Amino acid sequence: MKKTIHVQVNHKNYEIVCHPAKTVLDVLREDLDFTASKECCGKGECGSCTILLNGEIVCSCLILAGQIEGKKIVTCEGIGTSSSMDAVQQAFVDEGATQCGYCTPGFIVAAHAFIRKVDHLPTEDEIKTALGGNLCRCTGYTKIIKAVEAAARKTLEKKSILNK
Ligand code: FES
Ligand code: FES
Repeated sequence: MKKTIHVQVNHKNYEIVCHPAKTVLDVLREDLDFTASKECCGKGECGSCTILLNGEIVCSCLILAGQIEGKKIVTCEGIGTSSSMDAVQQAFVDEGATQCGYCTPGFIVAAHAFIRKVDHLPTEDEIKTALGGNLCRCTGYTKIIKAVEAAARKTLEKKSILNK
């Protein structure tokens, strides 16, 4: 039986009517037209569906609509737009860190969540650990890691934690 669910997505409140066992990934894509998050494995293994749920990264393919009543979701669309990109999004463009793009929105959400918390320029190993739940079959990861490092540097400079 369908249920009415109240949820905030990308800073706007929504009321949706759907089956509580529908995945949040499908709710985002089919009911709310936020199509950045992608379904690759559908099993919590690839990270292409990564979103922020109440500020924490989760795989939206593993969360059900019945679990999000009253919660806040942010997808790649809520992090920045093409006319006003977040530091991570801009760095992915600048470093050429995307190829087919299927993994990119998930990486951007995970990297954004990581960079928000760092208080020093992260090492390559710290970046790899932070992005350990996200898989990419195209890039070989080198440019993704460079992009995350560049975005972290920019963010820390902005907060005056690092000198320019
Ligand atoms: S589609 Fe959700 S982790 Fe792969
Ligand atoms: S760019 Fe193709 S899967 Fe990452």
